[in-house]
Amino acid sequence: MKTAIIGCGAIANTHIDVIKHLGLNLVAICDLSEDKASALLGKHGVTATIYTDYEKMLDEAKPDVVHICTPHWEHAKMSIAALERNINVLCEKPVCISPEQYAAIKAAEKHSAAVMGVCFQNRYLETNEKLRALAAEEGAKGIFAAVPWSRDENYYLSTDWRGRKATEGGGVMMNQAIHTLDLALWMLGNPVAVTGTVTNNHLVGTIDEEDTAELYIEFESGAKANFYATTAAVSDTPVIISLTTKSDRYTAFGNKVFDRAGDTVVVNEKTDIIAKDYWGNGHLHLVRDFYDCLKSGRKFPIGVSEAYRAVSVILALYRSCGKRVELDLSKL
Ligand SMILES: NC(=O)c1ccc[n+]([C@@H]2O[C@H](COP(=O)([O-])OP(=O)(O)OC[C@H]3O[C@@H](n4cnc5c(N)ncnc54)[C@H](O)[C@@H]3O)[C@@H](O)[C@H]2O)c1
Repeated sequence: MKTAIIGCGAIANTHIDVIKHLGLNLVAICDLSEDKASALLGKHGVTATIYTDYEKMLDEAKPDVVHICTPHWEHAKMSIAALERNINVLCEKPVCISPEQYAAIKAAEKHSAAVMGVCFQNRYLETNEKLRALAAEEGAKGIFAAVPWSRDENYYLSTDWRGRKATEGGGVMMNQAIHTLDLALWMLGNPVAVTGTVTNNHLVGTIDEEDTAELYIEFESGAKANFYATTAAVSDTPVIISLTTKSDRYTAFGNKVFDRAGDTVVVNEKTDIIAKDYWGNGHLHLVRDFYDCLKSGRKFPIGVSEAYRAVSVILALYRSCGKRVELDLSKL
C-alpha cells in the first residue's frame, strides 16, 4: 500500500516514525514549504517525492492512504479531496471544526469507495482501555477529568493558525483537551446535555479563543462528567481521569490507573513509540489498527461520525455560556 502525508510540522514526525516502524511504503509528502518537507525527510532518513500542492500529490502519487497532519481548518477540504479520489484518509484530530464541514465530509464519504479514520490515539492506551472496560463491567456513575497543561505566548505565535478561532476552531478544548473529552464519551456513551463556560485567563491579546474551560456533561445512561481544562497551568501536569463505578473509583494519572485504595490496577506497557509524553504514545497502535482494518475490511472504530461526537460537545460548550444545552447525537 502506498502512503502519503500532507503537512510536515510537529505531528508529522510521529506519523513518519510510525510509518517507518510499521514498514509502510511512504511515496510522497506535501507541505506549503518545500524546505520544511525536505528537512522532515532528512531528519528521519527517508525518501519520498515532495509536493507543495496536495491535490497534485493525490493525482500524481496516487497513494492508497493519505495522513492529514495540517491545521484544523484544512482537515475537511483535504479529506474531501482524498475521498473524492477514493483515497483512504487518516486525519489528525479534530476531524473538522464546524457542522457544515462535517456534513460536507459525510457527503463525500457516502460517494467514496475509501475509508476515513481519525487520530484519537489515546483510546489505544492500556490505562484507558481498562477504564472503559471497568465502566462497562461495574456500571459507570461518572467521570471527573482534568487537563492542566501549559502553553505560552510563543507556542501560539509559532504558527499562523493556533490561537485563532477561524483556523483552530477553538482553544484548549478543540486542540488539547479534545482527546480526554473523546475518552470520556467513549467510556460513558451518549451525551444528552452540556453546561459550561470558557474563558481566556492568561493570553488576552494573543489568542482569540479560550485557554480555560469547565463543563458538566449529562449522559443518556444517567452518568455525569465534570471536566476542567486549561493551557494556563504552570507546567504540563498529566491528565487526570477519575472514573466512579457502582463498585469503586479508578483514577488514571500518568502511566497508571489506581483504585480507591491507591493500589495500581494497570500500567501502560505499550512503550515502543514515540511521541511527546503528554500526547500519549498511542499513534503506533492506532495507525497499525487503521491499516489492518483496510486490509481485512474490518470497520475502523474511530470513523468520521464517532470522531465528530467530541467536536459536537465542544461546539455545544461554546454556545452554552453557563446555560444547559441539549444535544442529540443520534443522527450523526
Ligand atoms: N494526535 C495528537 O496527539 C496530536 C498532537 C499534535 C498535533 N496534532 C494535530 O496535528 C495537526 C497538525 O498539528 P501540528 O502541531 O503538527 O501543526 P504544525 O503547524 O506544526 O504543522 C502543520 C503543517 O501543515 C502545513 N500546511 C498548512 N497548510 C497546508 C497546505 N494547504 N498544504 C500543505 N501543507 C500545509 C504547514 O506548513 C505546517 O508545516 C493538527 O490537527 C493538530 O491538532 C495531533
